[in-house]
Amino acid sequence: MHLNRVRACAFPMQHTIAPELRAAMDILSCLPRMPGVIAARMSISIRKSVPGDEAALALVGAATFLESYAGVVDGAAIVRHCAQRQTPDVYAAALADPAQALWLAEAAPGAAPVGYLHLAPPDLPVETRPGDIEMKRIYVLSKLHRSGLGLMLLQAGLAHARAAGFRRMLLGVYKQNARAIGFYKAHGFHSVGERQFDVGGAVYCDWVMARDL
Ligand SMILES: CC(C)(COP(=O)(O)OP(=O)(O)OC[C@H]1O[C@@H](n2cnc3c(N)ncnc32)[C@H](O)[C@@H]1OP(=O)(O)O)[C@@H](O)C(=O)NCCC(=O)NCCS
Repeated sequence: MHLNRVRACAFPMQHTIAPELRAAMDILSCLPRMPGVIAARMSISIRKSVPGDEAALALVGAATFLESYAGVVDGAAIVRHCAQRQTPDVYAAALADPAQALWLAEAAPGAAPVGYLHLAPPDLPVETRPGDIEMKRIYVLSKLHRSGLGLMLLQAGLAHARAAGFRRMLLGVYKQNARAIGFYKAHGFHSVGERQFDVGGAVYCDWVMARDL
């Protein structure tokens, strides 16, 4: 039995991206790497972030960054990166900036943060033009990978960007991050350049990817 292929999204799910960009789904979330039947009913919803969400964003930002890159990039660099860039102050500034938009995914019961999306004006070393927006971060806790949550966040971001008149979405992704690159390619992104990305003083090589909206 391949427990690591037990799919959360094989269970009934509602994708309801309403105008106010709320969405909800019910999933049976199975923790795939643990033996036996470990399943808990979990309801995940996403909503646009508002001022006051900065602590939740910093928490899920640091947690998902650590999960994603532990064993992949330098550990001390991860710690420094999170101390500098995954902080409530950084997210409070982003939430106060009308040019940026963030979403939180929350688990019920309890509304604990389990994922997030951050859109911002492009800050990438490629030629950009009016109508460009950057998907700065899209992160989901690993136990919810391949649950459909990443796509739900992406769809919320695409809908927001189109409604705001943007015509192209860009992003940067670590070249060794095969999971994310597979996700982006599956949803229409292609490579348009490269960048050097500083993680807590250590420099890593990213692809810059883009797709039309
Ligand atoms: C990238 C990420 C957000 C994707 O979210 P996810 O919830 O795992 O993806 P979803 O379940 O929504 O995937 C939806 C569809 O996208 C495609 N997809 C997802 N991951 C894929 C992959 N690795 N390769 C190819 N296609 C993929 C599939 O078509 C999938 O549908 P399917 O599962 O029915 O085949 C998530 O893996 C994540 O948080 N990774 C760690 C953080 C990270 O690296 N973020 C990006 C930093 S640049």
